[in-house]
Amino acid sequence: MAAISAKAPGKAILFGEHAVVYNRPAIAIPVTQVQVKTTITPILKGQPDEIWLESPEIGLKSRYQNLPSTLPLVQLIELVKNSLQLSHLPAMRISIHSSIPVAGGLGSGAAVSVSVIRALSAFLGVNLEPERICALSFEIEKRHHGTPSGIDNTVITYEKPIYFQRGMPIEFIKPSQPFHMVIADTGVKCPTSQAVAGVRQRWQAEPERYESLFDQVGNLTLHARERIESGQVKALGELMTANHTLLRRIGVSSPELDRLVDAALQAGAWGAKLSGGGQGGNIIALVGHDQMHSLSEALRQAGAVRTFQTHITP
Ligand code: PMV
Repeated sequence: MAAISAKAPGKAILFGEHAVVYNRPAIAIPVTQVQVKTTITPILKGQPDEIWLESPEIGLKSRYQNLPSTLPLVQLIELVKNSLQLSHLPAMRISIHSSIPVAGGLGSGAAVSVSVIRALSAFLGVNLEPERICALSFEIEKRHHGTPSGIDNTVITYEKPIYFQRGMPIEFIKPSQPFHMVIADTGVKCPTSQAVAGVRQRWQAEPERYESLFDQVGNLTLHARERIESGQVKALGELMTANHTLLRRIGVSSPELDRLVDAALQAGAWGAKLSGGGQGGNIIALVGHDQMHSLSEALRQAGAVRTFQTHITP
């Protein structure tokens, strides 16, 4: 058995986070500028099920049997093993490297799952269909993120812009123009599960108000799709800023996120919003190609700990 590597990108939600948990549509794009890479090397003369896991970014280096069974990575390996109906796994070293910030709304958890599933199945000589990879990574999302919609594992598995609604077939979106975006990190970490649980509590307390906010987000998402497909770049920006206003009302923004959104708009972005679970993490701003550099600079001056540029193209 030779060493095998597999990658998975990050993702950003362009429209509809949180509302998507309540069955409204959302739009997400892969962000290939950040990624997870998993490499699996056989341990020659190792014992069956002798598995070593290492992930320097989270300080993990341990034999798999010594790790808590609640750890997502441990559960992921068990899940793949069971799903392939294997009684043992060959001795191996699984090494995971990620450039995706953790708990920042860029899909790091789902990207780890997808890249490990891809690497492990290839290492075992099994060719898994994308549907199966997507379903297995969703299983892990469900165990660790409360009530996930499934958007993260879907966009990361298929690596294409998607229009996503729970329980509906996935629709891929084809932009008719390039769209250029800057992503900026507040440096504040907030687990998605915490933001999602907060929204659920408020929705239970005020269902009508929240249903109406989710409807408004769903409506924006519908229009956003049209504008992406017909190439109305600037008009798409307005919808992003309107989505941010609704996310503030849903209660998932933060002073740091609002400051970066304001800074982006002042620096000439056509629109900006938080992206992902919120209460920390990243914003995403839409801008002309020529202004990407100056916008990144303005965002760093406004306190972003990291910025990077991403694009979707026809
Ligand atoms: O994983 P994040 O932080 O990018 O957020 C995912 C988007 C949510 O709508 C907040 C949750 C979900 O499961 O869809």
